[in-house]
Amino acid sequence: MPITIRPLTPVFGAEITGVDLTRPLDDATFAEVEDAFETYSVLVFPKQNLTDETQIAFGSRFGALETTQGHIANNFQVKQISEISNLDPNGKLMAADDPRLIYRIGQRNWHSDSSFKRVPAKASLLHARRLPPNSNECGQTQFASLRAAYDALPESRKRELEDKAAIHHYAYSRRNTGIQLTNAEEDKRFPPVPQALVRVNPKNGRKALYVGSHASHIVGMPEEAGRALLLELLEFATREDWTYLHHWQVGDLVMYDNRAVLHRARPYAMTEHARVLHRTTVAGEGPTVQ
Ligand code: SIN
Repeated sequence: MPITIRPLTPVFGAEITGVDLTRPLDDATFAEVEDAFETYSVLVFPKQNLTDETQIAFGSRFGALETTQGHIANNFQVKQISEISNLDPNGKLMAADDPRLIYRIGQRNWHSDSSFKRVPAKASLLHARRLPPNSNECGQTQFASLRAAYDALPESRKRELEDKAAIHHYAYSRRNTGIQLTNAEEDKRFPPVPQALVRVNPKNGRKALYVGSHASHIVGMPEEAGRALLLELLEFATREDWTYLHHWQVGDLVMYDNRAVLHRARPYAMTEHARVLHRTTVAGEGPTVQ
């Protein structure tokens, strides 16, 4: 079957069929997929019967993979697959007050993976393993195009933001979930880092408004004023006009460009139904500011 690329919205996102990701893609097909990734920012590959090994093999073709940071939500394991799950290691649903579950609630905030690291992630690949029975109504993942948002900014605002950097801080965004989730050790591991507010794609030159829930303030601006501007930009960047809501089916692999989109998990009955996604994360190629 030939590869088919079907746009999902007028501005970003595409569904790709006619590829079997359980086997290595030939170079020409991989080049088409890579090109689609740079163009569409979010790629949906339905019905992929992946194991962790085949998911890692496909993800690795885009670059080195990040390993998970040992923290509460992954039972302190360090590996290339991050389990986004509400099941404990015995396969039981976690209780409502389980800190691991509360950590997942933080993923309902708009974010770009690893933007709190000096070198933020390039791409993430999420594979749906188990879903709530009513997954057409809940537990979706929503994406917002930071390129469409940038393009829609007034020219004066673009000029104002051009060379600015925002400080991204893991502890800041966790605190905003209303619960103190980070401990002193995590705070030390993830100190505040600067990130360019406007990122340029090295392949096609498209610019993206790089904001998100980890961004706490703006370098060179009074903290409160910077925070207010970031909140305003975040609201603008996540307007419905340039969002895509993915309704999961088991076997879907969704790959997204963290340089160009924000995403967030949508709510579901976490203490009643299992939802398990496996994520591989492709590391970025360098810091966004020197
Ligand atoms: C994530 O933020 O990595 C997970 C998103 C989701 O659970 O839908």
